[in-house]
Amino acid sequence: MGKKKKLFEEIEITGLADKGKGVGRTPDGRVIFVDGVAPGDIVDVFVYKRTSKYLLGFPKKYHKYSEKRTRPFCEHFGVCGGCKLQHIPYENQLEYKEDTVVQAMQRIGKVDIQEFQPILGCAEERFYRNKMEFTFSNKRWLTSEEIETGTSNQVDVLGFHRPGAFDKIVDIKHCFLQYEPSNKLRLLVKDLAIEHGLEFFNLREQTGMMRHVFFRITSIGEIMVILSFYKNEKEKIQAFMDELVERAPEITSAYYCVNPKKNDFVLDLTMVHHAGKEWIEDVLRDVRFQIGPKSFFQTNTRQGKQLFDIVEEYAGLSGKENVYDLYTGIGSIALYIAHKCKQVVGIEEISAAIEDAELNMRLNKIQNAIFYAGDVKNILTPAFAEKHGKPDVLITDPPRAGMHANVVQMLLELEAPKIVYVSCNPATQARDLNLLVQKYDVVKMRPVDMFPQTHHIENVALLELKKEDTTIVDKMVSKIKSLWTPS
Ligand SMILES: C[S@@+](CC[C@H](N)C(=O)[O-])C[C@H]1O[C@@H](n2cnc3c(N)ncnc32)[C@H](O)[C@@H]1O
Repeated sequence: MGKKKKLFEEIEITGLADKGKGVGRTPDGRVIFVDGVAPGDIVDVFVYKRTSKYLLGFPKKYHKYSEKRTRPFCEHFGVCGGCKLQHIPYENQLEYKEDTVVQAMQRIGKVDIQEFQPILGCAEERFYRNKMEFTFSNKRWLTSEEIETGTSNQVDVLGFHRPGAFDKIVDIKHCFLQYEPSNKLRLLVKDLAIEHGLEFFNLREQTGMMRHVFFRITSIGEIMVILSFYKNEKEKIQAFMDELVERAPEITSAYYCVNPKKNDFVLDLTMVHHAGKEWIEDVLRDVRFQIGPKSFFQTNTRQGKQLFDIVEEYAGLSGKENVYDLYTGIGSIALYIAHKCKQVVGIEEISAAIEDAELNMRLNKIQNAIFYAGDVKNILTPAFAEKHGKPDVLITDPPRAGMHANVVQMLLELEAPKIVYVSCNPATQARDLNLLVQKYDVVKMRPVDMFPQTHHIENVALLELKKEDTTIVDKMVSKIKSLWTPS
């Protein structure tokens, strides 16, 4: 009976856990994670999933609202998967993010941090993203009230997926994430598609024409729009794209692709250049980046600069260093710090990104950078280190999964005097640090908030090779020398 219980009453939310979910305990002591609540709320929780270790639920009724709450500013809050923390004041969001890093370092990493620096908040709490993707659908997601009143869901919409429902799209009226004119452009694209009689995609039946639209708006005002169509109906595409660029002359680069696949992934498709320039340009401090339709670029440009400044400060470059930049993407960090070191060597698995890195290297007249395409675990070998010289500073910025165990082992063998580890997932970073502390001290750490209103956290750590190691080696060398008496 207890096992099947669906509703738990008056649960006190005591903190925020993974992905910003509220955490509480059932009367019999089980951990319960609750969507969309704030620490201090007291709620009845409806359980929608249970495992042997925890329960997952959503709030059914509020008995008390936390004082650490604020009014969400977006009408789509609670439905859209985008800004799940907007009911929590920004300073409390930062506390939560900082605490998440501390907890990961203690529980998973078990590392001592000599200096933990306070989280760097983002000056822009809204409209901070340079890149957004919206999905077309001919079926709108409905609220439970709309379902009860028999409202039809047969409406063309352009917006975001409802979390946990692949074919339900929330029609977005106004989004607070991307710089303007993102909202204006999205609404224009939607109106134009309707005017041109282009069917919105049916995700379940895989019919229709309009699939996705991507907007990239740089901090210097350049705008790239990419449309993804289901069918290659050239005349219709041409007419739509022509009218789009005519009615939105602020678009500086327009592309489209045709995606006849079941999945939404477009990076494996040919991007057809339709109008304007072939790339857009952004600037980080004094480094210019040309960004093509498939290139990765830091999504929050202004805070990306702050992040790179911390990396540069932690690296403590004097101009003489040999630097490795692992997981370099389009070489953003490598090119940012190139003027402060002797040489920088970047490694990245996506070869198109490496082409962009080389292009941007030339654009910025940088001559002391060299880039390699391939998996870090295959490229970073003793022979590679011999060829390029051992690194004085090694910067690593892996994806969410963290570094492969072989890469961590290689770092231990390379013994770079300094490692600057940038991470978008403190849990995997803590796991890797737990291994690196065999030889390294964690000297400094600073979380950076790149994505206000979301649970995402970036964290930078400075590791220095333990002094004891060199002392031990020195002692051993002198001991051997003292024992060895030439005949
Ligand atoms: C978090 S991004 C960092 C990008 C870059 N440092 C920046 O700031 O723009 C991680 C990068 O690692 C690349 N990557 C993922 N797995 C990799 C691997 N096994 N070897 C090399 N690069 C990899 C991804 O393609 C991505 O560009």
